[in-house]
Order: sequence, then structure tokens, then C-alpha cells
Amino acid sequence: MEGVAHLLLQAYTLLAATLLITTANFSHPTAAYDPNPLQDLCVAVNHSIHGVYVNGKFCKDPRKVSPNDFFYTGLNVPRRTSNRLGVNVTLLTADSIPGLNTMGLSLGRVDLAANGGLNPPHHHPRASEIFYLIKGTLYVGFITANPTHRLFAKILTAGDVFVFPLGLIHFQWNIGSRQAVGFAILNSQNPGVVTTANTLFGAVPAVLSDVLAKAFQLDVATVEYLQQLPWQNP
Ligand SMILES: *[C@@H]1O[C@H](CO)[C@@H](O)[C@H](O)[C@H]1NC(C)=O
Ligand SMILES: *[C@@H]1O[C@H](CO)[C@@H](O)[C@H](O)[C@H]1NC(C)=O
Repeated sequence: MEGVAHLLLQAYTLLAATLLITTANFSHPTAAYDPNPLQDLCVAVNHSIHGVYVNGKFCKDPRKVSPNDFFYTGLNVPRRTSNRLGVNVTLLTADSIPGLNTMGLSLGRVDLAANGGLNPPHHHPRASEIFYLIKGTLYVGFITANPTHRLFAKILTAGDVFVFPLGLIHFQWNIGSRQAVGFAILNSQNPGVVTTANTLFGAVPAVLSDVLAKAFQLDVATVEYLQQLPWQNP
């Protein structure tokens, strides 16, 4: 009986792997999805003596798992926003809460400075996002892909919720006269962040300026000016 169950499990795993590979290769070549959990717990550890690669993180022996593996404290504390963009993003992933490993979830706190704090245009290659504003007034939006480039934008006040669909460029801008705070829930333990301007103009080593000049309809001198600016991640 146990042998049959084992065979069935193997067949199922093979089918799941085939579906995953098919999806990855043909439908979404740049986006990967979190697999569903295969066990109750898979708390992340940093290294393995055997060096086996398991979906990004190794699992702790379940007997050694403790409540603290699922815990984080201090997300209520306001973050410093006195930087160039006036934004501070605290993203909690499986790196900070090991119990999130394989759960397909992460949580972010976004602090935006009064009068123009900006979480600049960016996208998450592996996650959709639902954003809940608890304080302040924001102009937020996302833009659809080719060929429409349609902007969906809204002004949010405290208590409002907005969705940023998987992989689409989006932004949050504080148009109010006081600090704004929101929380973002993302459906990946490692959503990834591609900040559009930083990524293209702050690439290391630099992208050939002619490439960006042609793409952005700019002259090379303007591109080179942009490329030498200090780009920092929010
Ligand atoms: C993993 O290693 C990093 C860097 O050494 C450390 O900050 C973090 O706490 C470690 N996480 C776990 C779950 O051991
Ligand atoms: C975000 O806030 C924390 C805590 O206030 C601070 O240590 C950190 O330097 C801030 N990050 C940026 C980019 O301003």
C-alpha cells in the first residue's frame, strides 16, 4: 500500500514539474511562480551540509521550529523618509520571517514623506500586490503592458485599498501635507523589485548610452548625465 502511494506521489510530482516547466517556458518566460506548500512547515535555514538546492531555502527540522520563526515585531514604528525620494520601504520576506518559506506571501510597510514622497515606478516580477493605506493621501497607479499602456490611477485616503496586478509598473506618490503610511501584501515570499529608472540608468556596468538614447528618444549627453547621477533603491 505504501509503495503504491509512493508511486502516485512520484507521478504527481512529475506531472506538477512538467506543468511548471511548460508554463515557465511558453507562457511567462520572465515570471516564476511560487509552488504550493508541500508540507505543513518549511522554515528557512541558511545552509545545508549536503548543498541541496530546495526552492531557494532549506527547511529547518520541524522539531526545532519555534513560534519566533513566524514572528516579527516593530512594523508599527515609523521609518525615516529624509532621503532623496522621501520613501522608506520595509519588506518582510522569508529572509526576515523564516516561517514564510514556501508560503507565497510577503508584507511591506511603505512610509512616504509629506509633500511629494515618492515610491518611484517599479514592478514585482513574481507578485501581485494589494495595498492598504492607513494614513495620508496618495496618488497611485499602474500601467498595463504593450500595446495599450493604459494608466489606472486613483487618489487614496486613509482606509482605501488598491491592487497592483502581477508584474505591472506602479507607483505611489504622497500628495498630502503629512507623512503617509501604507501596507502592501504580495503573493510571493520573494516578490523581487525592479525600479524602472534605477535599473536602466543605474545599471552596473552601465548600459551603452546609445541604447538608452535611442530607446528614450533622448540625446546621448542627457543619457550620460542621467547615468552618472547617484541611483539608490527605495
Ligand atoms: C541568514 O543569514 C543572514 C546573514 O548572515 C542573517 O542576517 C539571518 O538572520 C540568517 N537567517 C537565518 C534564518 O538564520
Ligand atoms: C529607513 O528607515 C530606517 C529606520 O528609520 C533607517 O534606518 C533607514 O536608513 C531608512 N532607509 C532609507 C533608505 O532612508
